[in-house]
Amino acid sequence: MPKSRPVGHIRYDNTDRVILVTGGCSGIGRAICEEFLASGAVVVCCDVDAENAKSLSPKITFQQCDTSSEDNCHVAVEKTIERFGGIDVLVNNAAIQPPETYHPLHELSTDVWRRLLSINFSGYTYMAKCSLKQMVQQQSGVIVNIASAQGHRTAREVGVYGPIKSGNIMQARQWGIEYARHGIRVVSVSPGAIDTPLARACIEEQGGASELINRHPVGRLGNPTEIAHAVMWLSSNDAAFITATDLEVDGGLGAFAAFADPYPSP
Ligand SMILES: NC(=O)c1ccc[n+]([C@@H]2O[C@H](COP(=O)([O-])OP(=O)(O)OC[C@H]3O[C@@H](n4cnc5c(N)ncnc54)[C@H](O)[C@@H]3O)[C@@H](O)[C@H]2O)c1
Repeated sequence: MPKSRPVGHIRYDNTDRVILVTGGCSGIGRAICEEFLASGAVVVCCDVDAENAKSLSPKITFQQCDTSSEDNCHVAVEKTIERFGGIDVLVNNAAIQPPETYHPLHELSTDVWRRLLSINFSGYTYMAKCSLKQMVQQQSGVIVNIASAQGHRTAREVGVYGPIKSGNIMQARQWGIEYARHGIRVVSVSPGAIDTPLARACIEEQGGASELINRHPVGRLGNPTEIAHAVMWLSSNDAAFITATDLEVDGGLGAFAAFADPYPSP
């Protein structure tokens, strides 16, 4: 084995910034809450899951909120502003992809379609709409939409999740250009497969763990902290010239062509 070379790290400072994260009780959202907290931020986690919220750090403010309800989103944003005086970063992350979404469209239940649309798409819109009012007043703010590799390119049986995720990418582009002259940046992050409860629940639908891992050129799943770090960089002032665009954090998945030789199975 060659001697390992030094690697680089970034230290983030988010002292006193107010960060609102949806779906912060689990997986990627939880890592985003924890990493921002560790960098000095005031963190508000909005999630439907009050049970899972009990294991959040007591330094994270929990606000129970179903993002598919515009009223709930309004209350969550208003309470954050009342208590902390503003919103510096909104991370739209709460979304669902239950195994029953893995069907060709003609076999998909309309109820599942409606649930996905209301949480994964309308929820992002409601949270942004409420937060942008405050950000326009402040003349500052960053919104990060967590989209997906499946918003860029598709596979069989993701007939609703994928198109809605591409909508999250376009939301960021549209809001990014709309609010650029107000000092507000909007971007999206598109993860490859990340080891979270959501991904684990659908692992068989995606061909099993080793197949899914092997489709990623780096040869592993991502971990939630790796998405959190991308979000922190994009929402920091070091990314001040970056807006209305998407960052794929996917271990090379998106660049791997369908006609490429598959990697030998490990
Ligand atoms: N895990 C992956 O492989 C992967 C890949 C690409 C994109 N993503 C995206 O990353 C984001 C987070 O996914 P994850 O894997 O961490 O999922 P997860 O299931 O681990 O966590 C999702 C969180 O959202 C909350 N939530 C669900 N519905 C809600 C609602 N209506 N209102 C408020 N909160 C709600 C859940 O309670 C949970 O805490 C999602 O937008 C997902 O589409 C995940």
